[in-house]
Amino acid sequence: MKKSNYIEGFSKLSRNEKAARMGEFMDNPSNYENELQKYRFPDEKLQQQFEQFSENTLSNFHIPYGIAPNFLIDGNLYHIPMVVEESSVVAAASKSAKFWYKKGGFQTVSIKTKKKGQIHFLWKGSKEALYSFFNQIKPLIPEKIKTITQSMEKRGGGVKSIELKDNTDQLADYYELDLTFETVDSMGANFINSVLEKTAFFLKEEAEKRYPDDMEIIMSILSNFTPESMVTMKVECNIKDLEEADPHLTGRQFAEKFRMAVLIAEKNVSRAVTHNKGIMNGIDPVVIATGNDFRAIEANAHAYASKNGSYKSLTTISLDNNVFRYELSIPLTVGTVGGLTNLHPLAAKSLELLGNPGAEELMKIIAAAGLANNFGAVRSLITTGIQKGHMKLHLDNILLSLNATPEQTEKAKKHFKNNTVSVSEVKSFLNQQS
Ligand code: MEV
Repeated sequence: MKKSNYIEGFSKLSRNEKAARMGEFMDNPSNYENELQKYRFPDEKLQQQFEQFSENTLSNFHIPYGIAPNFLIDGNLYHIPMVVEESSVVAAASKSAKFWYKKGGFQTVSIKTKKKGQIHFLWKGSKEALYSFFNQIKPLIPEKIKTITQSMEKRGGGVKSIELKDNTDQLADYYELDLTFETVDSMGANFINSVLEKTAFFLKEEAEKRYPDDMEIIMSILSNFTPESMVTMKVECNIKDLEEADPHLTGRQFAEKFRMAVLIAEKNVSRAVTHNKGIMNGIDPVVIATGNDFRAIEANAHAYASKNGSYKSLTTISLDNNVFRYELSIPLTVGTVGGLTNLHPLAAKSLELLGNPGAEELMKIIAAAGLANNFGAVRSLITTGIQKGHMKLHLDNILLSLNATPEQTEKAKKHFKNNTVSVSEVKSFLNQQS
């Protein structure tokens, strides 16, 4: 790579000019530009559509779009689209879906969908004056924001509560107006932020009239932490029926070992992070495949995992009355209308494949995928280990990258059933064959 230098006015360049400009920093500029071109859509209109999702777009970065079939969730069958680049994720989800299909599938324990937005502000006057001002202003707010809220209200959503919070124990003069929202089937970020900004403007305007120097609005923004928008999903079966989980363990032995693995993830932060990563392995791919915001989902989940001051597993287990019951509780905010969900052609198709669910139903589907992937990972970890499954898929990738013929591939698959897979081992095996 060549040394980079500062670029003035990059956003104003055309796509090809931007690509050429970046090519200057590459060892082989024309190869770079060819690669960028290779992954653009031949249909320029479609390409334009994708470029508009972001800025300074040069090309598209492809990630496999796959299906984990046969998820039984609350009695409904789904074939779940997953966008993910890690091998074994779709396989693990599919395997768990099959396992639980025969045992009643995934079941929703509870679901709630309230979201929250905050207006953070400073108030230099007395607390009494602020509370009295707020109590006078609060009933006027709905009318002030009506132009934004009325269509959401028609759909059953809108602002559900407005609360003043005294945060002066955290920072001097710091208060917060805390609004809760229902946004029905939309993720609602734009709606919430518009309501907040308009409310903050009104608040400031009124404060100016009565307390000219006392209020300073710092910022207004939704909170991606949504403990009031979350889903709890479970799987359960008789412990005896877990004997099919592993040929070497009884159902009871499997359940007890599984329980220990989950308890370790409750106590040990280093393990908890990996355990929860295994949950997100199932969550993010469905979030992406349906055009939702996986950064918000990730931030939310990990904040929730540490809500009591130490980072813990998002799943819990019980083995009472000979029943293996395994639950995932995760805060989620997703939409099935608006945003990328309709604009991205494959996101729209994902939703169609899922039966055009509403946001609540999609939350359940996503949670089931998370629980499935985590169950699959822990099942492998406490039995065969994960490398066995990983290495099989890894071998496929290596053979593909080494352009192995179908005949070589077949021989290699037989050979590596009982031998360690690595790029050099596969290379030398192929060399011996030729
Ligand atoms: C790998 O992507 C995910 C796992 O590490 C999850 C886990 O350890 O539970 C297998």
